[in-house]
Amino acid sequence: MPLKLKPENFRNTKSVKELTPAQQRFLEIGAQLHDSELTPQLARMILQDARTKHAYSVTDTDAPEGTDPVVGIVTLETPDDDVHIDTLVIDEQRRGQRLGAGTLRLIEALARNNNAERITLNPVSDDAGRFYEAHGYQPDGDSGDGMLSKRL
Ligand SMILES: CC(C)(COP(=O)(O)OP(=O)(O)OC[C@H]1O[C@@H](n2cnc3c(N)ncnc32)[C@H](O)[C@@H]1OP(=O)(O)O)[C@@H](O)C(=O)NCCC(=O)NCCS
Repeated sequence: MPLKLKPENFRNTKSVKELTPAQQRFLEIGAQLHDSELTPQLARMILQDARTKHAYSVTDTDAPEGTDPVVGIVTLETPDDDVHIDTLVIDEQRRGQRLGAGTLRLIEALARNNNAERITLNPVSDDAGRFYEAHGYQPDGDSGDGMLSKRL
């Protein structure tokens, strides 16, 4: 499935009511990371967080007209010469279809384009850790806090 990382700018959105359909899906998929329905309080929290990061909706560019093209979300931090993956969530209905692997490839391409030398992340669970290790991410000796990293 052809995927794209579509930048979502939340910086000037003051309330959930102003969001585009893709941005509303961003919040719904973000809530899955908290194992919760999208309550107004959680929506505000995710919005607040997304404003401080580089946020992207993972979009199926071949989705038929009238169907939902957003299959996941990504937020990145880009300090110095590293890219830090803050969040990568694939919609729970769509997991296990290699969308996570495709998204990771897109993040790595974006990081290389920005001349990043390394990608880092803190996996949220053992499952997530196995997913990243299968894609070449290794425990980061420097940090000692469970961080994984990959040299580009
Ligand atoms: C981790 C995650 C991004 C993987 O996305 P995905 O599209 O399901 O991944 P893929 O289809 O490319 O790869 C599936 C692999 O991930 C593993 N995996 C981890 N969690 C999984 C889940 N909840 N459902 C299905 N597969 C999962 C599978 O074991 C599978 O391994 P395999 O390749 O040996 O079969 C996705 O499961 C997810 O969003 N999880 C919840 C949030 C999270 O943990 N994010 C990562 C840290 S920020």
